[in-house]
Amino acid sequence: MKPDDKRIWEKLTDDNDRWRKKRKGKEDYQTINAVIDGNTTKILSGLQTRGIIGTITGTIASGKESGVFLAKLGSKGKAICDDLSVGSPIVIKVFRTSTLNFKKIQQYISGDIRFRKYSKKTRNVVKLWVEKEYRNLHRSNSAGVNVPKPILVKGNVLLMELIGIEGFPSPLLKVVPQEATENTMTAILAQIKILYQKASLIHADLSPYNILIKNSVPYLIDMSQSVTTSHPKAKEFLERDLNNILFYFSTKGVNSPATETIFNDITMNELNSD
Ligand SMILES: Nc1ncnc2c1ncn2[C@@H]1O[C@H](COP(=O)(O)OP(=O)(O)OP(=O)(O)O)[C@@H](O)[C@H]1O
Ligand SMILES: [Mg+2]
Repeated sequence: MKPDDKRIWEKLTDDNDRWRKKRKGKEDYQTINAVIDGNTTKILSGLQTRGIIGTITGTIASGKESGVFLAKLGSKGKAICDDLSVGSPIVIKVFRTSTLNFKKIQQYISGDIRFRKYSKKTRNVVKLWVEKEYRNLHRSNSAGVNVPKPILVKGNVLLMELIGIEGFPSPLLKVVPQEATENTMTAILAQIKILYQKASLIHADLSPYNILIKNSVPYLIDMSQSVTTSHPKAKEFLERDLNNILFYFSTKGVNSPATETIFNDITMNELNSD
């Protein structure tokens, strides 16, 4: 990070936050350096000046393709997302434009009727990828699926509701194996069915790494790659999602049904006939 960007970043963040204090250490700075480039710093700074976000209070996660930060909602942010109050904890997902795998992305964009007219220029693809996650979250949320409520997208930055308790992010299913019960499995399969039938979407990267557990309730996250049910590979993606989930629960000793049975139920039995 250049000295100027570092100064702006320091203004954006709040060292006294209790989450930051708990996590403070090398990890924060490594993530920031890897994820936040000059352009992203400007976007975040602009969002803060406009009152959409308040201070950035810490780092939640750092992946190969994104960095996820914790922040507070600003007063103008509340105007965009009426359900949340000013100062409530939100998540900032920053997509790392330099490490995005364009080849992988293509298959989820082409074939999705919503993105038929997209341009193949690099910058556009990144913007589209972020926009796609926003739209997928919005569509899922409106259909009643448990997902973080999206707030806003700007360049490579996506703001959304924090899935967490008292400002602390909820854990991934992967790290709370004690939650891998039959009830949780049934609840996840029910979410996949609502997603399919009410939102006409398939997650397409579902695994215990993309499900958060809050008060024993599953929330689906990470939806850039999610596609409409009319995508040519829809069947393959749904099968893969189901295999991942059913296999995981079977390794935890849960008596899991066959993929085909669940696949047929999701695609053929209407929700309200359950
Ligand atoms: N809305 C949210 N509330 C709480 N935690 C979140 C939220 N969104 C993301 N996270 C956390 O940030 C991590 C990374 O987010 P996400 O899965 O969307 O990004 P990613 O690019 O796929 O990263 P990775 O490659 O690590 O999976 C998640 O595993 C989760 O721990
Ligand atoms: Mg993920």
